[in-house]
Amino acid sequence: MAAVVPAAGAGVRLGAGVPKAFIEIDGTSMLVRAVAGLLDSGVVDDVVAVVPAARVRETESLLAPLRADGHLVVVTTGGAERTDSVRNGLAALESTAPAGDAGYDVLLVHDAARCLAPAGPTRRVVETVRAGAGAVVPVLPVVDTVKEVDDDGVVIGTPDRSALRAVQTPQGFDPALLLAAYDAAGDVATDDAGLVERLGEPVVTVEGHALSFKITTADDRMLAEFRLNPPPPRPEEPHD
Ligand code: CTP
Ligand code: MG
Repeated sequence: MAAVVPAAGAGVRLGAGVPKAFIEIDGTSMLVRAVAGLLDSGVVDDVVAVVPAARVRETESLLAPLRADGHLVVVTTGGAERTDSVRNGLAALESTAPAGDAGYDVLLVHDAARCLAPAGPTRRVVETVRAGAGAVVPVLPVVDTVKEVDDDGVVIGTPDRSALRAVQTPQGFDPALLLAAYDAAGDVATDDAGLVERLGEPVVTVEGHALSFKITTADDRMLAEFRLNPPPPRPEEPHD
């Protein structure tokens, strides 16, 4: 089992002035947390971290301790869009390790930005691919009503919320299907399963987790810090 971890984004919306995956949450970078979380799930053997070109050497040393226990941890350079970064990661995996039918039986793609993702969804995704699904995504119900709008922001529709799901990572794939989806991909997609859908292949959902949220804004970063380091309970207010 191998995972590609795209971590080459600039983190514009977080606005910290450094690539987002290298921001520390409670003293450990998001990238190290994301990769360690996958390896700690017990179902991931090898990882490809995809990072900005200027961060490759730093990443090699950040991830070196995770190579213990025989895990293959490859570092490669990302591209302009997430799709380019994942494609680079898949290429690095193919050139350094056997992918496809003869090698890994499952490939995962997991955002470094979802660095608190627990093991549960990862295991569910992998089990479901191993049970025969070609593509599997962890999801949560959508809590807000979602509107579709036109270019002027005028509402043109309200999809039935009960049929909507918010999609997380890690997403899991039959390796041959994921490679075919990336081969066929003309333009960018916001998630990897979207490329599989374009091939007309089914994508199965499993239950995600609240802690698998994506750290996108400064508020998300504060929430992540809080979840790792909740403040001590306040002393009881004195009663009369
Ligand atoms: N990513 C990547 N290569 C890119 C763009 C994004 O590897 N060219 C990665 C990010 O590092 C992140 C994941 O894809 O782990 C999800 O992307 P997002 O949350 O949008 O991160 P950024 O692109 O860094 O953030 P922003 O869009 O605010 O700049
Ligand atoms: Mg982005």
